Amino acid sequence: MTSLRTDRFLLAPLDEGDRDAFVAYRRDPAVARWQSWTPDFGVADADRLIEGQPTGFPPPAGEWLQLAVRDAGSGALLGDVAVHTVAGPPDTYEVGVTVAAEHQRRGVAGEALGAVVAALFDDHGAHRVIATSDQRNAAVARLLTGLGFRHEGRAVEADWFKGEWTTLDTWAMLARER
Ligand SMILES: CC(C)(COP(=O)(O)OP(=O)(O)OC[C@H]1O[C@@H](n2cnc3c(N)ncnc32)[C@H](O)[C@@H]1OP(=O)(O)O)[C@@H](O)C(=O)NCCC(=O)NCCS
Repeated sequence: MTSLRTDRFLLAPLDEGDRDAFVAYRRDPAVARWQSWTPDFGVADADRLIEGQPTGFPPPAGEWLQLAVRDAGSGALLGDVAVHTVAGPPDTYEVGVTVAAEHQRRGVAGEALGAVVAALFDDHGAHRVIATSDQRNAAVARLLTGLGFRHEGRAVEADWFKGEWTTLDTWAMLARER
């Protein structure tokens, strides 16, 4: 895959043209709160990520690929979908998603992540797709439930994350559950 098309969006590996918009939403504390990075994420961090990431979809085992979610008309970056090919079990992928605050609650994540999950199952033979979230993140719980992910487990105060014990929810979808 070099790109995926949905009704409203074009998804393709994040590139230099996305950098400023990418940095802007990664610096938003409300977005960073739930993610691995912090609001001091800068241009150099973005350049490293963009230059260092694989380009093929799905990425090689053990690696992550950030797919830009761009408006199909204007090309503006609205967010990204991250795909991780899990090392070990075959045909197993982990996904994550981020949408810039000004584009949230318009179905961007649902449409973009839904398309990526469909491509993993339909075009790449996925057996299982998983996601992990902070128990307090109501938006992602709603999003994943809506896409058909099963709430698989809850690890209570399992992670020491950003200075506090954090409860993790795990989500999964099997090919035969679609
Ligand atoms: C989670 C996130 C990606 C959702 O993006 P989005 O484009 O706003 O999501 P959508 O518009 O597709 O909405 C999907 C569902 O979530 C619901 N939702 C979205 N934001 C919500 C919020 N803040 N609180 C409660 N529900 C919310 C929507 O109502 C919708 O539910 P519905 O289909 O039952 O109507 C976005 O809030 C985000 O980027 N948050 C910060 C980063 C993050 O938490 N990423 C996930 C980490 S795993």
